[in-house]
Amino acid sequence: MTDFKDFIQQVKRANDIADVVGSYLELRPKGTTLFARCPFHGEKTASFSVNRNMQIYHCFGCGESGDVIKFVQQYESCTLMEALEILAKRAGIKMPETREQAQDKQYQEKKRKRDEYFAICRDAAVFYFKNFYAPHGQVAREYMSGRGFDDATLKKFGIGYSPDRFSLVKFLQGKKHSDEDCVACGVLQRGRDGTVADALAGRLIVPIINVSGKVIAFGGRGLDERTISFGKYKNTGESPQFIKRNNLFALNVLKEQKQQSALKEVVMVEGYMDVIAMYQAGYKCAVASMGTSLTENQAKLLSRITDTVYICYDGDAAGQKATVRGLDILDSAGIEVRVMSVPENLDPDEYIKKYGAEAFGGLIKQALPLPDYKLRLLENAYPISSDNLTVRNNAMPKYVRGAIKMLRQLDDVRQTQYLSAVSIKTGYSQEYLRRKLHEEQPSSATEEQTDSLSPAEKAKFFVAACLLSNQEFATLAEKPYCESQFLSDLYDYIFRCYDRGEKPRTDMLYTVCPNGTKQQYEDIINVDFSPQQRQKNELYFRQCKSAIATENVRQKREQLLARLKQNPDDRQILEEIARLNEKI
Ligand code: UTP
Ligand code: MN
Repeated sequence: MTDFKDFIQQVKRANDIADVVGSYLELRPKGTTLFARCPFHGEKTASFSVNRNMQIYHCFGCGESGDVIKFVQQYESCTLMEALEILAKRAGIKMPETREQAQDKQYQEKKRKRDEYFAICRDAAVFYFKNFYAPHGQVAREYMSGRGFDDATLKKFGIGYSPDRFSLVKFLQGKKHSDEDCVACGVLQRGRDGTVADALAGRLIVPIINVSGKVIAFGGRGLDERTISFGKYKNTGESPQFIKRNNLFALNVLKEQKQQSALKEVVMVEGYMDVIAMYQAGYKCAVASMGTSLTENQAKLLSRITDTVYICYDGDAAGQKATVRGLDILDSAGIEVRVMSVPENLDPDEYIKKYGAEAFGGLIKQALPLPDYKLRLLENAYPISSDNLTVRNNAMPKYVRGAIKMLRQLDDVRQTQYLSAVSIKTGYSQEYLRRKLHEEQPSSATEEQTDSLSPAEKAKFFVAACLLSNQEFATLAEKPYCESQFLSDLYDYIFRCYDRGEKPRTDMLYTVCPNGTKQQYEDIINVDFSPQQRQKNELYFRQCKSAIATENVRQKREQLLARLKQNPDDRQILEEIARLNEKI
């Protein structure tokens, strides 16, 4: 450990702060101090100072200060280790490897591979980009200009085109990359007959670039019906350099905006095309989650760049991605979360096209803070303002229970603020709500546990997840027998929706089952519904459904047997039991 402290000192000594800052910003001397325009807050005058003697920086405008390492961390939006790596490289110092790492051949090999994968991705990106502008790229160019994207935007995002299955293979072989490495990093795919081919053949290519500016993967959009039938988008598979849950699309753009002090807010959207359309419309502040639900690592990445994130998922997809859980993850990472809603179920790209860039700015302004959003979801589930008195009376206790749970998650200041809002909305006194708020909560030991679930119980979670996210193959005629309150509430909700002729929504999960455990929520929202999993999911669904049906019949028989004990001569019950026995 002292070795490491020595290393930090060595890096600091070798990197004069004025030289380092000077390589990023234009510094002007004023007396013994150097000044620049602060990169951490927007300003017209130069209040960012660098002091060579003390080896520190300080901004008189925003109060940011620190040493050379912190500067790089802040400026590059990176971790301490990454900052050290940048500075060590700059000064020609070798990064210390732990003794195990240095001796570990496997580790060395892994590192070498990673660098090779980055090189392959970069070369592939160049290939795709060139092909977009080649004569045979016309189909892709016409598609994008048809969608209203201009040349500058396309170039900014490095949009490319894959002409066919084998051109990329030849190109990468020409660059001396081995087929094996190209397959390992997901750029090429090996067919059943052993031949390798472009994994995204025939598609429009959207490069995915990490926060350090390295291409790590690609999204490929199908341009014709046949390709789209295999998935509208196909992405590079997971590999050592591309771990979906640790990345976000367009983080590199955000970082660049931040460095130009031009980043005011961050808007989290769903699609590549939404990010690109927003950029063109002047909102250079969007990132996309690439079709998965938000992870803690992604929240951490964002928290280095911004302190406020606007979520802009379209209603339907918001459900499927279990927004609320994602929002809580952001909230826990210390990010202020606001939720936008785009009318008419449009995505940002479509909305901007229909109503213009300015109108989209209006949506950002109208975004709801997280607690307000949660209260709105709650009211959607429990209509406490309904004209129908019975409906209202039924909804009220459930609404209050949910609101209290929401209030518990807030810090003191916000709790007070929202407590009064809830009191006004429900007519319950603040004292009553406060008392409920501080009532003892069920300890985790008494909470329902799901990790040791029986297969039948697991099946019910999976089936519920499929029904909730409206998978095409998912149908169920009657409510399964449920031991847990969680599943019982959830199925009640689903069948209530069906009765009303509505589709259930995943974003209602937290509202209709407000007291679930983390595990229970995860068993619902972590099911992978990507197109690649479809066949598997469909098959498993059928198995689960028949397991549930069998259990339902057994349960009915149990109940009848119990009744039979009391009325041993009831012929009707006996006949019914015989029928069920046959079914089983
Ligand atoms: P969308 O279908 O909303 O994407 O999926 P989009 O960007 O609006 O697509 P366009 O406008 O029709 O071209 C959201 C995101 O989910 C992932 C992609 O990351 C996509 O941008 N996705 C979607 C896939 O990975 N595969 C798919 O088949 C569909
Ligand atoms: Mn779209």
